Amino acid sequence: MSRTCVASAPGKVILLGEHWVVSGSYGLAASISLRASVECKEISCSRPEVRIASSLGGVIIDIRKPEKCSGPLCGLGYAAKHLVGILGIEPLCVQCRVASHIPVGAGLGSSAAVAVAFSAAYAGVHGVELDKSLINEAAYAAEEYNHGRPSGIDNTVASYGGLVLYKRGLGVKPLESRVELDALIVNTRIQRSTRRAVEYFQRNLSILEDIREDLIRLVDKLVLRGVELLEKGAIERFGRIMFLSHGLLNGMGVSIPELDWIVHTASAHGAYGAKLTGAGMGGSAIVVGDENALSAVEKECKKRGFEVYRVRLGVEGVKLKCK
Ligand code: MEV
Repeated sequence: MSRTCVASAPGKVILLGEHWVVSGSYGLAASISLRASVECKEISCSRPEVRIASSLGGVIIDIRKPEKCSGPLCGLGYAAKHLVGILGIEPLCVQCRVASHIPVGAGLGSSAAVAVAFSAAYAGVHGVELDKSLINEAAYAAEEYNHGRPSGIDNTVASYGGLVLYKRGLGVKPLESRVELDALIVNTRIQRSTRRAVEYFQRNLSILEDIREDLIRLVDKLVLRGVELLEKGAIERFGRIMFLSHGLLNGMGVSIPELDWIVHTASAHGAYGAKLTGAGMGGSAIVVGDENALSAVEKECKKRGFEVYRVRLGVEGVKLKCK
């Protein structure tokens, strides 16, 4: 009898270090409790295809020639091809259904979560339960198709879950400690271009050429100290590092009044910390605090017309079930 496998994987949020990582500082990301899931089963057809259905539409990929496919789901064909190559398996014809609770285009790693869940479910249908490093590798092949040469942070968070530290040149490192905490992600719904934000930040940093290295080393310290505080459960002190990091990003020109408003509102309601997350100039902010503070901030932000997600940070990575 053919197998049906369902895998799920989390999205991600950047907690500290965005923009500065481009210039060589550490960055810290965490998984979030918004997940994508992919169900795959074997079907009969004459070629080793992957047929994918999702709310973005459907696609049929010949995994021997994924380059013939075009569209946002085609990267999954590269992940399948990669898996068939490294596992040395005879590829089956597989039908998959994608369902995701992660908003698309919000910097929350939705494409990587889908790629990770797909890789686990696709291998599962072939009777292989992969370790996380192989799932991560296959999902990176899909991410390369989608984003050129990404840092690999999104697929690593989706595979391993928890907290992930990264730095250019040193790569991406999932932390062993398990830290979970509640947060709000507040989406201003203001569209932004990551490229433009990165260019603007870098231009402003070049004006400060003489203290550029000092600033980058300061952010390194903030990120590494932030990790220590999270591991100790000192969330209030971690929150102060978030406020400080927002201030630095604001000083570099990548905040906007809406993001500043969210950070001020969070502070006024006693949240531990808040900052913009990702590229800025629009997009989302993240808020950390106790239940009372989060409820109050959520209410204010909704009143203002922002989209609010209540999330748990640091949740488990990819999960697979087959029957
Ligand atoms: C965007 O999500 C994060 C940035 O740091 C850009 C990057 O790391 O490539 C702004």
